[in-house]
Amino acid sequence: MPDPSPPNSPPGPLSSTDPSPPNSPPAGGLGDLVSYAGKKVVLTGGASGLGAAAVELLARSGCTDLTVLDVKEPTGPATRFIPADMSDPDSIDAAAAEIGGGVDVLFNNAGVAGVHAGDFVLRVNYLGLRRLSESLLPTMNSGGAIVNTASIIGAGWRDRLDVINELIAIEGWDEAVEWMSEHSELVEAAPYDLSKELVQVWTMHSSHRSLTRFGVRTNSLCPGVLDTPLIVDFRRQATEKVIDWAIEQSGGIISPEHMAAPLVFLGADAAAALNGANVVADRGFSAWMTTDHVDYSALA
Ligand SMILES: NC(=O)c1ccc[n+]([C@@H]2O[C@H](COP(=O)([O-])OP(=O)(O)OC[C@H]3O[C@@H](n4cnc5c(N)ncnc54)[C@H](O)[C@@H]3O)[C@@H](O)[C@H]2O)c1
Repeated sequence: MPDPSPPNSPPGPLSSTDPSPPNSPPAGGLGDLVSYAGKKVVLTGGASGLGAAAVELLARSGCTDLTVLDVKEPTGPATRFIPADMSDPDSIDAAAAEIGGGVDVLFNNAGVAGVHAGDFVLRVNYLGLRRLSESLLPTMNSGGAIVNTASIIGAGWRDRLDVINELIAIEGWDEAVEWMSEHSELVEAAPYDLSKELVQVWTMHSSHRSLTRFGVRTNSLCPGVLDTPLIVDFRRQATEKVIDWAIEQSGGIISPEHMAAPLVFLGADAAAALNGANVVADRGFSAWMTTDHVDYSALA
């Protein structure tokens, strides 16, 4: 579908409450552009780790309408909790109906590591994320944002873009699950890597429709190794040696509080020029791997 908006003009105001006409510069300073006052926000996976840190930061950034979807109840300052299982389409649909319309920012952050069955990992990390986004998008406010939590692990998508595009082209949940069982060897080999490659490509793919039809930006954050409870599963998935090496080579493990800042930034009006971007937040680790500044000897 062609983009109807002329070059350089945003598709709508920066937020539902921002009356500025298209192309006018944003008013106020940077503080206003990162404020979540008056925004309706939904975040998945807010009970632990990065999501829990984001809940705290969103509340400190003025958000007073924050719904968390999770299998566990959050303890942080969310204003509403909807129990939801991102691996289950009925649970996602019920949660979306309860949320209703008028969402400004959706953070798809819930995720599991590759220690589970491959199809479960793909359902939670990709299919569930996609279903919730597509359910909420048509009634989201123009000027809003979808922010997916991907990973630097998903950077290898170019090596199998054909197969990733094949799965992305499948719109139905059951049909996608059937594709997974037909490609079980691929899916079971490294499900976490594949799921995050899917999230990165889906972010780019869906960013066209989300912005041109609904005025909603779609980006992802690609964190490096985080100090969250999930690290226990990553140590099982990738071995202690590899995780310790990655932490050492990237200059230390990153706290969820530090990672919450770029996550929350991507949903804010300050990030209005970003769409379809997979933003790497790993303190340079990926850049150093690309430019030969990483020492692999500990892995020998
Ligand atoms: N920890 C890392 O090193 C790292 C690195 C890159 C990306 N990530 C990504 O960051 C995101 C957050 O992970 P984290 O490290 O904070 O882990 P975490 O385990 O601390 O938090 C994950 C949250 O997702 C929820 N969740 C899990 N399965 C769910 C399901 N089926 N339905 C609904 N909620 C579910 C959990 O209850 C939890 O609250 C994930 O998408 C993860 O893949 C993590």
